[in-house]
Amino acid sequence: MKPPLVFLLTLLGIVTSSLGENVVVNTTSVSDKLQVGFYKLSCPNAEKIVEDVINKSSKQNQGIIPGIIRLHFHDCYVTGCDASILLTPERYNSLNAEMAHPANSISLRGMDALEAAKADIEKQCPGIVSCADILAFAARDVVVLAGNPRYEVPAGRRDSFSTDGSFANDLPKGNHSVDHLIKTFAERGLTTEDLIVLEGSHSIGQTRCLNTIADNSSMVGDEMLGAKTLVDRPFQQMVKQKFCPESQEELFWNMTSPLVPANPNTSNWGISYYDDIMKGKSLIPSDIALAVDPSTKELVAHFASDSADWQKKFNEAMIKLGKINILTDKQGEIRKTCRWVNAVNTA
Ligand code: HEM
Ligand SMILES: *[C@@H]1O[C@H](CO)[C@@H](O)[C@H](O)[C@H]1NC(C)=O
Ligand SMILES: *[C@@H]1O[C@H](CO)[C@@H](O)[C@H](O)[C@H]1NC(C)=O
Ligand SMILES: *[C@@H]1O[C@H](CO)[C@@H](O)[C@H](O)[C@H]1NC(C)=O
Ligand SMILES: *[C@@H]1O[C@H](CO)[C@@H](O)[C@H](O)[C@H]1NC(C)=O
Ligand SMILES: *[C@@H]1O[C@H](CO)[C@@H](O)[C@H](O)[C@H]1NC(C)=O
Ligand SMILES: *[C@@H]1O[C@H](CO)[C@@H](O)[C@H](O)[C@H]1NC(C)=O
Repeated sequence: MKPPLVFLLTLLGIVTSSLGENVVVNTTSVSDKLQVGFYKLSCPNAEKIVEDVINKSSKQNQGIIPGIIRLHFHDCYVTGCDASILLTPERYNSLNAEMAHPANSISLRGMDALEAAKADIEKQCPGIVSCADILAFAARDVVVLAGNPRYEVPAGRRDSFSTDGSFANDLPKGNHSVDHLIKTFAERGLTTEDLIVLEGSHSIGQTRCLNTIADNSSMVGDEMLGAKTLVDRPFQQMVKQKFCPESQEELFWNMTSPLVPANPNTSNWGISYYDDIMKGKSLIPSDIALAVDPSTKELVAHFASDSADWQKKFNEAMIKLGKINILTDKQGEIRKTCRWVNAVNTA
């Protein structure tokens, strides 16, 4: 392709996947209705209160830093950024809450901090600030704690009346093919670059052993060819010995490993992720595949050598992620607590 054509296709939001089919990025999923400073008059301290609670909670438990980034992603990816992921299966819609879905469930972290922020905000400005916005503010605050520059979060989201766990089946899995991931991100308005950039957050946090490189059953099929050829065998052995022993495979559901065993701290933010996957050193097969697939490997190499560009693009991609299929104006409601819709909230 000559440069002008590439430019034109980029303008049209069309990227070519390795299968050669065109993937159209659905930009209409990304709303332009949110505003920076949305609560400036109605609840001027809202963002400050969230930041306070998040900073304090993170000192008690660093795990909320990766946890809240992933919560925001899983909320936005499934029916949009509407706080539907925060509705508790215990008190609401128990059989079919997103929170109860196996892709979420015991792997979610950070909900208590969000509820604490909501409670503090309700004391000052009852019924004004949505849980969906609190989650977006908190996600920014943990990204800053991890080490990125601060960014402004456009707000004005409203909270959903319901949650439907069946849509959580669409969440990305560690054994999905790169083509599949590109396609499902594009449906939500996120480009291949957004996908690669956001996955840089896998430089911190943890994973359950299920579906990792330690799990033989996740390393089968043509989709996994890229990961199988590149995976670093000694690294894989180390993970199997130290974190996910085969003898305990039936416990892989709740055994965890750091995503980056060599540096499990949040201080590893953005440091080694792209280098690591190029060397086949990742727990998640689809991450390794990004370094092999022709439609992603060049960008992976780029971000491995330019972390300042990665930081900048990460913030931009988080802002875009936060605009997917939101509720605004008279849609949805402002919940009193993030775990229950107001109609069943007896508190
Ligand atoms: C695109 C495909 C993606 C795949 C296949 C994927 C897969 C995974 C898996 C398997 C885990 C471990 C979860 C568990 O314990 O079961 C994980 C954790 C995590 N993911 Fe992703 N992910 C993807 C995209 C993203 C994106 C776009 C973000 C950020 C916006 C993200 C942020 C995180 C974070 C921060 C964690 C660590 C959570 C914690 O430590 O509590 N991931 N991911
Ligand atoms: C694009 O996104 C909008 C909003 O989510 C949705 O209504 C529409 O069906 C999507 N179009 C395609 C082609 O997926
Ligand atoms: C929260 O932590 C960040 C990063 O260390 C810092 O810049 C900010 O001032 C803190 N905010 C509050 C309200 O404590
Ligand atoms: C991914 O692994 C799950 C088992 O955890 C399996 O059911 C599914 O078929 C696998 N998907 C692919 C694309 O291999
Ligand atoms: C998993 O795969 C490795 C390498 O191919 C093999 O040595 C091991 O026996 C397998 N484990 C199980 C439980 O199938
Ligand atoms: C592992 O998960 C199962 C089912 O979710 C639970 O019953 C069990 O107590 C957990 N084990 C540990 C060690 O956390
Ligand atoms: C980093 O992680 C190691 C191993 O978990 C731990 O011993 C150490 O205290 C951590 N360092 C910081 C600065 O948190």
